[in-house]
Amino acid sequence: MEQFEVVGGTRLAGEATVAGAKNSVLKVMAASLLATGTTRLTNVPDIGDVPIMGEVLGGLGATVDGDAPDIAITVPDEIGYEADYHHVSRIRGSVCVLGPLLARAGRARVAMPGGDAIGSRTLDLHIMGLERLGAVFDTANTHGYLVAEAAQLAGAQIWLDFPSVGATENILMAAVLAKGNTSIDNAAREPEIVDLCEMLIAMGAQIGGVGTSTLEIEGVDSLQPASHRVVADRIVAGTWAFAAGMTQGEIRVRGATHEHLEIALDKLVQAGAVVTTYDDGFAVSCDARPRAVDIVTLPYPGFPTDLQPMAIAMNSVADGVAFVTENIFEGRFMFIDELARLGADVRTDGHHAIVRGRERLSGAPVRATDIRAGAALVLAGVVADGVTTIADAFHVDRGYQSFVETLQALGANIRRVEDSTLL
Ligand code: UD1
Repeated sequence: MEQFEVVGGTRLAGEATVAGAKNSVLKVMAASLLATGTTRLTNVPDIGDVPIMGEVLGGLGATVDGDAPDIAITVPDEIGYEADYHHVSRIRGSVCVLGPLLARAGRARVAMPGGDAIGSRTLDLHIMGLERLGAVFDTANTHGYLVAEAAQLAGAQIWLDFPSVGATENILMAAVLAKGNTSIDNAAREPEIVDLCEMLIAMGAQIGGVGTSTLEIEGVDSLQPASHRVVADRIVAGTWAFAAGMTQGEIRVRGATHEHLEIALDKLVQAGAVVTTYDDGFAVSCDARPRAVDIVTLPYPGFPTDLQPMAIAMNSVADGVAFVTENIFEGRFMFIDELARLGADVRTDGHHAIVRGRERLSGAPVRATDIRAGAALVLAGVVADGVTTIADAFHVDRGYQSFVETLQALGANIRRVEDSTLL
């Protein structure tokens, strides 16, 4: 097991280049199952989740060739239908093979992903939507698996109680090959959903309302493989934006789409940073202690839950008191106990947190509980006095390409070391 060791007290300055989005690449990899032949993906991030998703696809009969940033996925005429627990429990995102399997194989046996450190993530909306399309779920003796069959999917009108990203994706990937028309109301409209729609359209799917909360899908008989460039990772880009804000630094982020981060960048402006936008990204600079900013997480285009830990970390060294409300995942405050080990003054009540900014944090050993919490704790370590170690580095490696190297290039004193407490 590896951990990050950070010696705090540095200002981060320089450039960071962002690759394709984790939350998009996993879905477009799953979408490749919808067509026989070779799909080519570019701007694929070099992160831990991609080879695991490759193994999931391999288990279904596909072949994944090449390495990030370019991979090719070759899908045979007949595909398997089972995604096992070993893989699905490692990346919950792999549950997005459910829709493609029902559409292509007419049946699916996908392990239930199980618990998660950011809170309960039920699949009721995925199941409801797929049932509306005609899938029949087995509920008895399924031994921890979602088991479903669909001789022929048929278009339907579907309303989502909540604009779930994963449910929208699974329903969408099933509906593109269903017979007739489907509409998904209150659909999620994250940039990663738009990216998936663009890939499906390139494969021959008929989708209207892309980027809105009503998706209209006209089912087609078959799809062809396509070439697709994965959309930039707005959460990684946003991480570097908060890194500049909280270290009173200056970071030029390349390869990002600033329009996907409007609220997050505006929060940095409210905190006192200067944000400059460019065609290929943006720059954030902050020459004084940031001011506290209130945050409310919401589905896109609201403030992303995945950047909430970075916002709390910045507020923990900001001037003033911030009120942070987490509306998406109830367990997302779990990392606050770790941040408190660095001296952060954060009190929570349910899904609300009050963050009282401190002049400085003080280095201590902490543990990453998930990808984003891990990245936020590293940033907190960069502004803390002394040495901070962040255990369970693998969480961060699941979603951040060249994380340590990027931070080193920005001036951070960070290295990757073996976790000696485990030796
Ligand atoms: C995706 C992202 C994750 C991001 C999240 C919200 C991936 C791999 N992960 O997760 O990084 O934080 O979107 O932007 O893309 N819910 C239900 N029933 C369902 C499905 C979801 O109640 O059937 C609830 C969840 O418990 C949660 C909320 O809806 O409270 C949001 O979940 P969802 O949008 O589905 O997130 P994911 O797709 O799991």
